[in-house]
Amino acid sequence: MSKVITSEEVIKHNSNDSVWMVIRNDVYDVTSFLEEHPGGEETLLEVAGQDATQAFDDVGHSEDAKELLKKYKIGSLPPGETMPNVVPQQKPNCCEKVKQIVMVSSVVAGAILVAIVLRKYLASN
Ligand code: HEM
Repeated sequence: MSKVITSEEVIKHNSNDSVWMVIRNDVYDVTSFLEEHPGGEETLLEVAGQDATQAFDDVGHSEDAKELLKKYKIGSLPPGETMPNVVPQQKPNCCEKVKQIVMVSSVVAGAILVAIVLRKYLASN
């Protein structure tokens, strides 16, 4: 029986170190195939951690390619589960936000500090 792998797990494998993708609800680990792929490494990386069914079909892969798929299959999504259409590249957004918060906080903290120093300075005069 094929191993059940959730979409959340697939999404995590979206970097050069580990490339998983879903084609027709089956999960494939193509990490070791990256360099061998006749269509190039980049094409596979673009759909890493995502549903690659459309991309795979659009190329019109040969029967040999479809046969080769079996070699990389590691499991299937739970019955009825599909991959969310979200591109898992929202981390920079999150970090941008954190950076913004840190920056605003430092400005506010700086202003308070200046105010305290000024008050002390004015009070001593
Ligand atoms: C495990 C998944 C995949 C396997 C086993 C695979 C295998 C292959 C093979 C054997 C070829 C040589 C041509 C053929 O036999 O059809 C090929 C070509 C190609 N593949 Fe894939 N492929 C996979 C996934 C993908 C995906 C997801 C994409 C697109 C995002 C893609 C894009 C291409 C392109 C652009 C070519 C070149 C077509 C050409 O120059 O004629 N492949 N692939």
